[in-house]
Amino acid sequence: MTIIKAQKGTKDILPADMPVWHLMEKNANEIFSRYGAKEIRTPIFEATELFARGVGDTTDIVNKEMYTFEKSERSLTLRPENTAGVVRSFIENGMHRLPMPVKLWYKGPMFRYERPQAGRQRQFHQVGVEVFGIKQPTADAEVILMAVNYLKSLGLNDLSVELNSLGCPECRDEFKLHLKAVLRPYLKDLCPDCQTRYEKNPLRLLDCKVPECQKIFSKPEIQEVIMSDFICEECAEHFNELKKYLDELKINYSINKLLVRGLDYYNRTVFEIKSNNLGSQNAVCGGGRYDSLVRNLGGEDIPAIGFAMGMERLAYLIGEKEDKKTTAFVVSNNPAEAIKLAEELRKAGITCEFDLSNKKFVKQIEKASKTAKYALILGEDELAADKVTVKNLETSEQKTVSRQIVKSEII
Ligand code: HAM
Repeated sequence: MTIIKAQKGTKDILPADMPVWHLMEKNANEIFSRYGAKEIRTPIFEATELFARGVGDTTDIVNKEMYTFEKSERSLTLRPENTAGVVRSFIENGMHRLPMPVKLWYKGPMFRYERPQAGRQRQFHQVGVEVFGIKQPTADAEVILMAVNYLKSLGLNDLSVELNSLGCPECRDEFKLHLKAVLRPYLKDLCPDCQTRYEKNPLRLLDCKVPECQKIFSKPEIQEVIMSDFICEECAEHFNELKKYLDELKINYSINKLLVRGLDYYNRTVFEIKSNNLGSQNAVCGGGRYDSLVRNLGGEDIPAIGFAMGMERLAYLIGEKEDKKTTAFVVSNNPAEAIKLAEELRKAGITCEFDLSNKKFVKQIEKASKTAKYALILGEDELAADKVTVKNLETSEQKTVSRQIVKSEII
């Protein structure tokens, strides 16, 4: 019979991987809670329109990468990211009536129909934060701080923060006009995607990785426009204040004028955190401000900023973590008594197993040595005296004690 395999671009997260995943989840809860963020879990599928309107229907994500299907004449989509879903939930559940800021964090699977490669999957996981209600750059600084401190808590220090300001719709429109004007003579030489971007979403031109397009963008007259300080006074002030906070907090960052991000909802601050140890898919974190999204999805006029990190990329950088052994393993030829002793310990909060398959005593000891820190030997003598022999499998020391005090012998 043919074996059914996992789908291309998907991966099992196996028991051996779990110590790292548990660490990422535990630290997310701990670190983000310190900043007052609360966890939110939204559905994995949403109305397709949410992403078309939220993420933007000229983006690659919406145009090429969505898992969309029909049910009862409704178009539904597996979420390619979670900002749109969190904003939908924020509006639907009246969170705008809560005292601001509202800080939310999430973790879970996302789905993008991309060409799989190292660090890029079709089902992947994100952990992220969204902060609503603050237009001042203090929120931008705090959100970047949350990301950096979360990464530090995972032992990831060797990462670089890249920052840019996309300005507001007004100053950005002017920039787009300049960019289009200077690129017009080269339009026919740009890749087909860039030709579409030129018409529909010129800012995304800067993100193109095709060498011929890169060559055109490196021309002095085009570089001059790209590198110009196009943003208006207010946007510049916001960006300068953010940089000042980051300097004071001693967070290293560099300005990357080509950082435009692949989603349409951003304005002003955008940022990415990158690693040199990840090959071409080197971004572990992407985020930015999206002051119009709540309103564009039918809510009040509420500014927001957030980020998301790819958990598979984080797991790769964290590396392996040793799986914890079971604390105790009951060794006995009397399964009825073994199960009772194991339950007594579990009730006391101790991880405990016993042999479920009636193996010989020696085999049970072997199993205990491989999987546990302590063997709790319940032989005929011990049973007759209502005692247990506690053997420390790391030091080989052993001691026979009364059954009532077994748990105090286990550290
Ligand atoms: P994004 O840059 O599309 O932003 O994704 C954030 C992170 O998710 C990336 O930096 C990367 O680590 C990871 N990631 C993305 N696609 C894949 C993939 N195919 N395979 C593995 N990892 C991947 C967003 O999703 C925005 N919602 C972030 C945000 C939140 N902005 C504001 N709030």
